[in-house]
Formats: sequence, structure tokens, C-alpha cells
Amino acid sequence: MASQSKGLQFNLPQAHAQEKTFYEAGKRIFFMRGGTHDFSCASCHGEDGKRIRLQDLPNLTKNPGDGIGFAAWPAYRVSNGQMWSMQLRLNDCYRQQRFPFPEFGSDALTALSTYRA
Ligand code: HEC
Repeated sequence: MASQSKGLQFNLPQAHAQEKTFYEAGKRIFFMRGGTHDFSCASCHGEDGKRIRLQDLPNLTKNPGDGIGFAAWPAYRVSNGQMWSMQLRLNDCYRQQRFPFPEFGSDALTALSTYRA
């Protein structure tokens, strides 16, 4: 398995119009606030040095924060002894955001991934 600190290489050149559309949609989803706490992804992952319950929160709006945070999944999660895909990781973030999570394989998730990658 690739080392966590280096992460995997993604090649998303943004050459195709659809890639740009998905990037822009993903960016909007990332900053869209909602739920009972009025949180967005950026509420927890938009600044350096944020923490929640002693866990460091990666800043996903810039490199290398996002490069590492995005490319590190799927991963084995020691806390519950399960292999988690990126989707399961995000579902747990959405749960913490008190927000319903997108359907598996939906355009919303592809857009979020395109933005983060
Ligand atoms: C209420 C706070 C909160 C919100 C809102 C939130 N997350 Fe998270 N996120 C976390 C926590 C806590 C972790 C686990 C950090 C750790 O294990 O070090 C995490 C981890 C991640 C990771 C993995 C980072 C890594 O280094 O492995 C990604 C990617 C991620 N979140 C993306 C998102 C996206 C996209 C959204 C919006 C849909 C979101 N998060 C919303 C709290 C949040």
C-alpha cells in the first residue's frame, strides 16, 4: 500500500468541460452550509490547525492537506476495525455535520471528489 504521507497520485487535468463543471459543483457542495449546526465541509476542514475532540482536522481547501486527506482513502480504520471507502469516510463526516449523505455513486459525490482531488 502507498505510504499515507505521500498519498496516491491523481491525474485530473481539468481539460474536459465536464471536469470543470464537476469541479465547480463540488466546490459549491464543499462550502454549502446546512443541517441543524449550519456546518459545511469547510466549517471543519477549511482552516489550518482545527481540532475536534482532540483529533486534528485536515485543511482540505489546499495542498498538501487535501492531497493527503483525499488520497489516503480507502483505509483500514483502527477505531472500528473496518475497511472504509472514501464514501464511508464522507458519510461519517456528513453524520457529524447532521446532514443526510449523498447516494452511493451519485453525481454529488463525483463532484465532491473532483473538487478535492
Ligand atoms: C463536524 C466536523 C466535520 C465536518 C462538517 C466534516 N468533517 Fe470530514 N472529518 C472530520 C473528522 C473528525 C475527521 C477525521 C480526522 C482524523 O481522523 O484525523 C474527518 C476526516 C475527513 C477526511 C479524511 C482526512 C484524512 O486525513 O484522512 C476527508 C477527506 C473529509 N473528512 C472530508 C470531508 C468532506 C468532503 C466534508 C463535507 C461533506 C466533511 N469532511 C465534513 C470532521 C468533519
